[in-house]
Amino acid sequence: MAAKTERTFIAIKPDGVQRGLVGEIIKRFEQRGFRLVAAKFMQPTEALCKEHYIDLKDMPFYAGLVKYMSNGPVLAMVWEGLSVVKIGRLMLGETNPIDSKPGTIRGDLCIEVGRNLIHGSDSVASATKEVALWFKPEELVSYTSCAQPWLYE
Ligand code: RTP
Ligand code: MG
Repeated sequence: MAAKTERTFIAIKPDGVQRGLVGEIIKRFEQRGFRLVAAKFMQPTEALCKEHYIDLKDMPFYAGLVKYMSNGPVLAMVWEGLSVVKIGRLMLGETNPIDSKPGTIRGDLCIEVGRNLIHGSDSVASATKEVALWFKPEELVSYTSCAQPWLYE
């Protein structure tokens, strides 16, 4: 049971919002069978984006990345399900859309690494950290999904 409640932090970046791809991206997570636990449409501060990408602070693209991420609205979400961290990353595609296979979000919907639409946690540990950074505990919604017995045996 515990594995089915694995959680990941997914954020549709400003280009995904501006290009009207919010519905398309949410649809893919819903159709795969994952459960939406939290969603917040927000204008993230520069400080929040800096902290979110703090592991990349020494990279040459860090300043541009923080500017991109804090430049427009973001849809921050928490999705739950068996192996959602790993499957979520597979659904996103590679960091660089050029290397992303068709069928993935980045492989279908964008072109350049600096405008790659979506963030997804890269491990269970980062998911825990990122969910706590972007959401208060009371913003995570607890409910039973009627699809559960049809998704898991
Ligand atoms: P994300 O954290 O956004 O899900 O992306 P990721 O794990 O696939 O890649 P990561 O290495 O964590 O990089 C974070 C974001 O930085 C931008 N980036 N630009 N110009 C560049 O070479 C470069 N490399 C990375 C991308 O927006 C990437 O998603
Ligand atoms: Mg990353």
